[in-house]
Amino acid sequence: MTQAQTRTGAATNGRLPETMMAAVMEAYGGAEAVLWKEVPTPKPGPNDVIVEVKAAGSNYNDVWARRGTPLQVALPHIFGSDFAGIVREIGSAVKKVKVGDEVLNHCGIPAMGSPEGQEHIIWGFDSGPMEGSHAQFAKIHQDNLLPKPKNLSWEEAASLPLVLVTVWRQLVTKGGIRPGDFVLIWGAAGGIGSMAIQVCKVFRARPIAIASSDEKLAMCKELGAEFVINRKTQDLHEEVRKIVGRRGVDIVFEHPGQATINSSLRLTKWGGKVVISGATSGYEGTIDLRHIFFRQVQLIGSTLGTVDELRQAMKMVEAGVIKPTVHKVIPMSKAAEAYRVLEEDEAIGKVVLVP
Ligand SMILES: NC(=O)c1ccc[n+]([C@@H]2O[C@H](COP(=O)([O-])OP(=O)(O)OC[C@H]3O[C@@H](n4cnc5c(N)ncnc54)[C@H](OP(=O)(O)O)[C@@H]3O)[C@@H](O)[C@H]2O)c1
Repeated sequence: MTQAQTRTGAATNGRLPETMMAAVMEAYGGAEAVLWKEVPTPKPGPNDVIVEVKAAGSNYNDVWARRGTPLQVALPHIFGSDFAGIVREIGSAVKKVKVGDEVLNHCGIPAMGSPEGQEHIIWGFDSGPMEGSHAQFAKIHQDNLLPKPKNLSWEEAASLPLVLVTVWRQLVTKGGIRPGDFVLIWGAAGGIGSMAIQVCKVFRARPIAIASSDEKLAMCKELGAEFVINRKTQDLHEEVRKIVGRRGVDIVFEHPGQATINSSLRLTKWGGKVVISGATSGYEGTIDLRHIFFRQVQLIGSTLGTVDELRQAMKMVEAGVIKPTVHKVIPMSKAAEAYRVLEEDEAIGKVVLVP
C-alpha cells in the first residue's frame, strides 16, 4: 500500500488528505498510457464541491481521451465523467448541497457563448486538465450535482448520468419520440443503447434492438426490446422489412457512425429521423444525399443534454421504470481494463469502477 492509499483511507469532513490516487494519463496511447498514481487532492473554488467518489461510470469518451482522437484532451488528464459519492468539502459560495450529502453528477458544462444547452464541454473529458471521476475525490461545480436516488447502489447510480442524459436528449428532445414509433437502436446492449430501449418503453414506442451476439440480444429483450436483430448473423434490411414492411422506421438511434449511417438513412421512413450522437466506427463516412432531400429524412445531431433533461430522466429511474444496467464492476486501479472492455465492444450495459 502506498502512502497515498494509507492517507486517503479515512476522509473526514473538510479535512481531506493532501494527495489521492487517480487514473491519470500524461501522454496519449494504449492501455499503457493509463497510470494509477498519486496526485494532489483537488481544492474547491467558491462554487465547487469536493466529492468522495464511491463509484464511477466508464464511458466511451475515456477511450477517445486515451487515444487522443478525435480531439486531444488537456494533459495530464484524469479519466471519468460520471460518479456517485459523498460531499466532503464545499466552497464558500456553495448553497445547493452540504457536507455529507449523497450525490451523483451531470457532466455537461455549457460552452461559453453557446445557446443554452446546445453545446457542451464534457466534465472529465475536455474540461481538464486533471478533472475527472476515476479518482478518490472529484471537484465539480455545485450546479452539476443531483441527489443520488435512494433506491440505487453507488455502482448503479454512477452508471447512469452520461448515458441517460444523452439518450433522453437524443430520443425525447431531438427525436420527439411518440407512442407507437418504431425505433431502430444500434449497439442496443451498450451503454447508451441499453438506456435507449428503456426510454422507448417509457413512451410506449416499439424498440428494435440491434447487437452483435445472441447473449447481448437476450439482455435487450429483458430490458424491453420488442424485436431483436443479430447484425452478425442476420440480414438487417430484410429483418427490418419483416417488422415494418417497406415503410421504414420512425426513428433511428444512431451512434456507430461511418459503418452504419447509410443503412440508418435507408431504413428510415419518408420524413423520419436519424438522430446521431456518435461515430464509434469512424467519422468520415460518405452519405447518399438522396435520402435527405428526396425522401426528406431528417439527419439530426445530438450531444449530451442539460441538467434539467437529466432530472426529467432521473424521475423515471426513481420510479423504477428505467433501470441501471451494470455489467462489470472493476477496481479503479485497473481502469485501463474498463476502457479495453468498451473499446472491444464487450460491454453488455455499463462498466463501473470502484476506488
Ligand atoms: N454525443 C454524446 O453526447 C455522446 C454521449 C454518449 C456516448 N456517445 C458516443 O456513442 C457511442 C456509443 O457509446 P456507448 O457508451 O454506448 O458505447 P458502448 O457501450 O461501447 O456501446 C457501443 C456499441 O456500438 C456497437 N458498435 C460498435 N461498432 C459498431 C459497428 N461498426 N457497427 C454496428 N454497431 C457497432 C457495439 O454493439 P454490437 O457490437 O453489439 O452491435 C457496441 O456495443 C460512442 O461513440 C460514444 O462516444 C456520445
